[in-house]
Amino acid sequence: MTQVVNQDLAVSAAQVVASGSPLYPPTSRQSAAQKIKRTPSDHPATKEQREEILAAPGFGKFFSDHVVRATWLKGQGWQPAELVAADASAGGLSINALHYGQSIFEGLKAYRHPDGGIYTFRPEANALRFQRSAYRLALPPVPTDLFIGALEVLVQADQAWVSSEPDQAFYLRPLEFGSEPALGVKPSDHVTYVLMGSPVGSYFANGVSPVKVWISGEFVRAAPGGTGEAKCAGNYAASLLAQSEAAAQGCDQVVWIDANERKYIEEMGGMNLFFVYGKGAQAKIVTPKLTGTLLPGVTRDSLLTLAADLGYQVEEVKITVDQWREGCASGEITESFACGTAAVITPVGQVDSKDFGTWTIGDGTPGEITMKLRQALVDIQTGRAVDHHNWMHRLV
Ligand code: COI
Repeated sequence: MTQVVNQDLAVSAAQVVASGSPLYPPTSRQSAAQKIKRTPSDHPATKEQREEILAAPGFGKFFSDHVVRATWLKGQGWQPAELVAADASAGGLSINALHYGQSIFEGLKAYRHPDGGIYTFRPEANALRFQRSAYRLALPPVPTDLFIGALEVLVQADQAWVSSEPDQAFYLRPLEFGSEPALGVKPSDHVTYVLMGSPVGSYFANGVSPVKVWISGEFVRAAPGGTGEAKCAGNYAASLLAQSEAAAQGCDQVVWIDANERKYIEEMGGMNLFFVYGKGAQAKIVTPKLTGTLLPGVTRDSLLTLAADLGYQVEEVKITVDQWREGCASGEITESFACGTAAVITPVGQVDSKDFGTWTIGDGTPGEITMKLRQALVDIQTGRAVDHHNWMHRLV
């Protein structure tokens, strides 16, 4: 049954990208940023407070001084966005998102480059995925120009929060949610878009050390027709129990397998997985094919391109847990790693499960190709390598 209740939402992400919106037409990115009204916070952190935070930021524990916020109203569309103090209220306890989970998000990082500029990585790709997630959650798409204009305005205002330390970045979190105060189960007529910023260090407390993963036999992340492809809050809420089970089994992360046949590898926690077959220049880099239940990671996509640039064969295929275990036992699979914006690349060292056995990948230490790909990507992101693909976008 396909029933689009709210006619304002009866538009695909592709149409939105092609047409923009009356307020943010696609040709006026510069003016999208200029149209954002700036009302600076009257209580920003002091220099001392900020420096204390930047000395040990952790991940996502602290926030910069401002957010960019915009409201969408049914029948009226997106209202002008504004830069406001980060603690400005965006709805009370009765909003739709809190009760029914109509909420999506994105994650990007901004980096201070040696040329003095502050850049982010492939923001158009995140904007497009955000629009696709919005479509699946019956939310109005945020036009790409508003999405990128907001990144520019927030980073401009809060640039003092962007560290130039090698393992730090300024994490940008676009969030869109149903903010209508109403308990009827329907797409919200009042929607809020917020972009917030958070100074971050490594996502995992142990940095890039290999993780031990637990294959979840009981819980399923995503089923065909569900929301697995969308970056929606509910997917992460539903992952927490499986993540706790993994921790109870002495593992760092959960690995998800497919809902139907319970044998194909899908993702690790909120990250995409990769497998390295063979060694040296002849190695092949393999990642599970996007079937509709996996999140189409921007890092995943970038690594497929970078691996090919480095001369490796790349392949997107369905891969079973049995193939993973047997490949590691025979030495055919030499390395495995997970990737995402937050942690970039995390080596997988060991696998444990109830139904598939326990095994070590290679000698359990970070693989050579894993670390080479990581370095290649980080060097582009931090402005230390040539950006052949034009992935970096200057914000300030
Ligand atoms: C990422 O790897 O970028 C993620 O999506 C993790 C995030 C939910 C913290």
